Amino acid sequence: MEKIIAPSLLSCDFANLQSEIEMINNSEADWFHLDVMDGVFVPNITFGMPVIQYIKKYAKKPLDVHLMIVQPERYISEFKRAGADLLTVHYEACTHLHRTIQAIKAEGMKAGVVLNPHTPVSVLEDSINDVDLVLIMSVNPGFGGQSFIENTYKKVEQLKRLIQHHQAQVIIEVDGGVSDKNIVKLAESGVNAFVAGNFIFKSENPAQTISHLKQLLNS
Ligand code: DX5
Ligand code: ZN
Repeated sequence: MEKIIAPSLLSCDFANLQSEIEMINNSEADWFHLDVMDGVFVPNITFGMPVIQYIKKYAKKPLDVHLMIVQPERYISEFKRAGADLLTVHYEACTHLHRTIQAIKAEGMKAGVVLNPHTPVSVLEDSINDVDLVLIMSVNPGFGGQSFIENTYKKVEQLKRLIQHHQAQVIIEVDGGVSDKNIVKLAESGVNAFVAGNFIFKSENPAQTISHLKQLLNS
């Protein structure tokens, strides 16, 4: 499976959103990672559908929308209309996860489920054949720029085993504290898609940083 870099716009310069989008369009990045926070599921508030709609207007790559909101099932069709290609919901926020995954797919989007650092991979035993992607949080969700949690490698390996055991086709994505210090080890553990916010946008040359991460994955 090809390795995917998904820059998180959470750390970008929102006053220059269009140029940040063009930078990603012209870079080696694969997806746009968009973090939607409601101030309830996580202690932070970001943006919603109108901003996603504007991003969609200029983005030439798929939108990977990470919902950190309670009851995400209420807004599935709205996120589809706003332009999401891949919609990920938190396991911890879904009482009826199976129904929510089916609803996302019925809208024609790829469906992903996200696990917080404290949530074991084993809770996905009965869902792994239904999802297109599993996102393992390598920080507690809510903010960019936090330190990577080392236990993530173990969880990725467990998830890989679960996927193989069920002969499922699932992308393994990791989000939080990803940098040139851990990306190779994460890839070796089984990660296919890498979200990076601060490491890309706070660097001197974000497009070059994306290219550097890609090179590390291809070496
Ligand atoms: C955190 C978000 C992440 C965040 C990652 O809750 O889900 O996508 O932007 O940022 P970094 O790479 O800075 O940890
Ligand atoms: Zn995210």
